[in-house]
Amino acid sequence: MSTLLLIGLQWGDEGKGKIVDAIAEESDVVMRYQGGANSGHTLKQKDETIVLHHLPSGIFHPTVANVMSWGMVLSPKVLIEELDTVERIVGRKIGPEHLAISGHTSIVLPLHCRLEERRESRRKIGTTRRGIGPAYEDRIGRCAVRVADVMALSEKALKARLEALYEDHDLEISADQRELNEEIAETVRVCKSFVDRIAPYVTRVSRLMATAVREHKKILFEGAQGAMLDVQQGTYPYVTGSMTGHAGVHAAMGIYLPIDARVGVAKVYCTRVGEGPFPSELKNEVGEKIQTDGHEFGATTGRKRRVGWLDLVQLRYSILANGITDVILTKADVLSGYKDIGVVRAYTTDGAELEWLEGGFEMTEEMKPVVQMMPCWKQVTDAQGKISPELEEFCVLIEKYTGARVSVISYGPKRKDVIFRGRKSFQDFYQ
Ligand code: IMP
Repeated sequence: MSTLLLIGLQWGDEGKGKIVDAIAEESDVVMRYQGGANSGHTLKQKDETIVLHHLPSGIFHPTVANVMSWGMVLSPKVLIEELDTVERIVGRKIGPEHLAISGHTSIVLPLHCRLEERRESRRKIGTTRRGIGPAYEDRIGRCAVRVADVMALSEKALKARLEALYEDHDLEISADQRELNEEIAETVRVCKSFVDRIAPYVTRVSRLMATAVREHKKILFEGAQGAMLDVQQGTYPYVTGSMTGHAGVHAAMGIYLPIDARVGVAKVYCTRVGEGPFPSELKNEVGEKIQTDGHEFGATTGRKRRVGWLDLVQLRYSILANGITDVILTKADVLSGYKDIGVVRAYTTDGAELEWLEGGFEMTEEMKPVVQMMPCWKQVTDAQGKISPELEEFCVLIEKYTGARVSVISYGPKRKDVIFRGRKSFQDFYQ
C-alpha cells in the first residue's frame, strides 16, 4: 500500500487532527485536496495548540512534502498567518521542498464573503462565513480568480478582471459603489502580496505527484470536513462547496491518483455545526452533557456543536460511499462512565422504517431515530490495557452494521492515547 485516504465519516470535527498528524509522520507526502479556511485541524506542537486551516498536517514534519492541490480554495490572509505561525514554531523558513501549492487553486475574495452574508441572511445553511461556497461557485461558473491568474496579470488587468466579476454578481450585492471600488483596489493589493509570498511554493503539482506515485512514496490524502458535508454525497443542500470524500482526490489533479487504503475517522457519538437534518440529535441534558464533556466547539468559528448518538445508518452510508475499510473511533474517553449510550439503527419516516440511505440528501428534518440503548464502558481499558467489554461490544456492533473494521480507538488528546485493535500501528495502514 502506498497511498492512503483519511477522511471524516460524519459532519467534520471527528478528531482527525491528531490521527492525521500521527499518520503524516509515517508518510512521505501529505496532500490536501479540497476545502480552505472553513476547515480546522487542531494539532499540538511544542505545548502550543495550533489550528491548521489550509496547510497539510505534514507541515511540522521536516521530511514530509506537503501538497495543496487544485481542489482547494485559498484565503490569502489566513494562509499567510498560518505560514507565519508554522515558521515561528519550527524556527525556520518552510522551503519549497516541504510545500507545493498548485497555481490552479482559486482565491477566496472579499466578494465571496459578501455574497455569502447575503445568502445566509435569506436561506440559512449555517456556513462558516469564510466565502467558501461562493468561491467554489465561481470555479464552476468559470470565472474564478486563481493563483496563476494573479501571478500572470498586471495590477491593472487584475483590477479589470475583478471589476467584471463584481459586475457579474451585481444582482446579488447591494453596496455603495465607492465602497466596492475601495474593496477592489484593496483586493488587488492583497492578492498581489499574497502571490509574492507564496510564489516559491507554486508549482506543477501533478508532475510532482506522478513522480511520488511512481516511486511508491507513502502518500496521505488528507480530507477536511466530513463525508456528510460532501457537495455531492452529503446532506445536500446543507453541505460545504467541495467534494470532501474520495472523489475529491481524483478531481484535484491532472493525473489519476490511485487510492490503495481508505480509512475513516468517526467519533463514538455525532456532532454537527450549522443547519441541516441530524436524526440522532440529542436536544436534552444528555446532549448538553456530551457537548460540555467533549468540549464540542467549532475549531474555526467557535460555535457550539450540536450533539447526537452515533448514527449507524449514516455511518454505513459514509463508509459505503467512500469504500472505507478501516474505522478509527475517537473520543471514547468522553463517554466513559456514562450509564448507557444509544446508537441509531434506523429512522422512521412517514410510518415506515428506513435503514438505508440512497444519498445524504435523503436525510430529512422529519426523520425520527430508532435508538438502541446499550451499557456504556466505565473506562476505555481495564488495568491490563484490554479494551473494556462494553466498548468491544460497541465496536463489534459497528463492524456488523457497516462491514468495516474498527482498527484504532482514540481516547484522549495525546498521541499515546490510542489502542490499536485491528491494526498494530499507524504505520500498519501502509502495509
Ligand atoms: P461552508 O463550508 O462554510 O460553506 O459551510 C457549509 C457547512 O459545512 C456548514 O454547516 C458548516 O458548519 C460546515 N462546515 C464547514 N467546514 C467545517 C468543518 O471543518 N467542520 C465542521 N463543519 C464544517
